[in-house]
Parts: sequence; structure tokens; C-alpha cells
Amino acid sequence: MTDAPDFLTATRTFYDAVAEDYAEQFQGVTARTPLERALFSAYAELVGPGASVADLGCGPGRNTAHLAALGLSVFGLDLSESMLAIARRENPGLRFEQGSMLDLPLADGTLAGAVSWYSSIHTPVDELPTLFAEFLRVLVPGGHLLLAFQAGDAPRRHERPWGHEVTLDFHRRRPHEMAQLLTDAGFLLRSSTVREPDEAFGETVAQAFLFAQKKG
Ligand SMILES: C[S@@+](CC[C@H](N)C(=O)[O-])C[C@H]1O[C@@H](n2cnc3c(N)ncnc32)[C@H](O)[C@@H]1O
Repeated sequence: MTDAPDFLTATRTFYDAVAEDYAEQFQGVTARTPLERALFSAYAELVGPGASVADLGCGPGRNTAHLAALGLSVFGLDLSESMLAIARRENPGLRFEQGSMLDLPLADGTLAGAVSWYSSIHTPVDELPTLFAEFLRVLVPGGHLLLAFQAGDAPRRHERPWGHEVTLDFHRRRPHEMAQLLTDAGFLLRSSTVREPDEAFGETVAQAFLFAQKKG
């Protein structure tokens, strides 16, 4: 990835450094509240049993495994080889591939569903139209996107996480602005859910979950 834009290099470098610590801290954390579990179940019902789905920015692959357990034909993709090594180790029966969500190694119209669960949060705002155009490209007409992110406007900079010499910006976004960008890209917004921060998880901002559909 020698020609990767700076933000992709920074994201990959950050997650390569923290992957083991991240996976340990979030051990067993998949769809951690009843609301998130309900959203995943609703998503699985929308795309249908056995549907071909990609977990984009899959990290350690726990949501990939959750989606597989819900009956979907899912694979994970991530920038970070260290994250992928954990995903493969923890989920030997599932497929994980290295790549960027902004340039997916997939043909047009091949997925019934795409999930981006807290993985668009490192993409600068001016790159979001490219990201959403790429999600749209790989979905079949009528295909479904599920997007999760922290709500807000000020980015949070993580410096020296777990003592590693890396830094990365975590962008928070206003849900209605993300919804507008999805609509501009050609999606139909199907639902927008915002839940309040849960102190039990150390959250300080609301969490947003958008369902969008490619026009059929
Ligand atoms: C906050 S973690 C979330 C991981 C996982 N979705 C979860 O919920 O546990 C963000 C992940 O997105 C990946 N990521 C960020 N930008 C990406 C991109 N452009 N292409 C592929 N993966 C990306 C990172 O490498 C990292 O593993």
C-alpha cells in the first residue's frame, strides 16, 4: 500500500500496533447492548438467510462471527494485517481479506449487504462520498448497508493507546449529515437510530446506527 493516502496509512499503522490490546479489551464484546443485537437481527432478516454480506473494517472479526451465526454468508475485510491475524485465529471457519473499503476488491453488484461497524470513523469527511459510492457500487440493487458510528462533531484524537507510539483521529458525525451523504450517493435511507451513551462502556457520546438501501 505504498501509494495509500496518509489517513489510510495512519489507520493501518494504528490498528497494526494496537490489535492485540484492542482485541483483549473488547474480548467477547459483540453487539454489546440489546438494541445492537436487535439491529443485527433486523439486518439479517432484511438481507435474508444465506445472503452474501461483507463486514467492512471487521477488526478482530467478532461481528463477522455474529453475522455468520445469524445465518448470513459473510466475510470480513480490513486494512490491518494484525487485526486480520486475530480474526482468522479466533474464527478459523470464516474468510477474512486485506483491503481498503475505499477501493474494494469486489466486482460491481456482488453483495446483498455491507456492514460498516465503527469503521468509517477514520475516513476524512471529504472522502466519505467516495466511501459511500464504493459501498453502493458493490451492492446489488436493493442491497442493504448498515453503518454504525459515534454521534457528534468534534473528532477525538487517540495518542499512545496502551503505550504504543501511534496516533489516530476518531471522527464523530452528525447522523443527519451522514444520512444526507448516503442519500447524495444514491442510497435510500431506511432508518436512523441513535442511543444515548452507556457509561458502563465508558461512552461519552451517543451512538448512531443507519440502515440504507441501494435503489432497486
Ligand atoms: C474501531 S475498529 C472497529 C472494528 C470492528 N468493526 C468492531 O466493531 O469490532 C475500526 C476498524 O476499521 C478498519 N478500517 C478503518 N478504515 C478502513 C478502510 N478504509 N478499509 C478497511 N478497513 C478499515 C480498521 O483497521 C479497524 O480494524
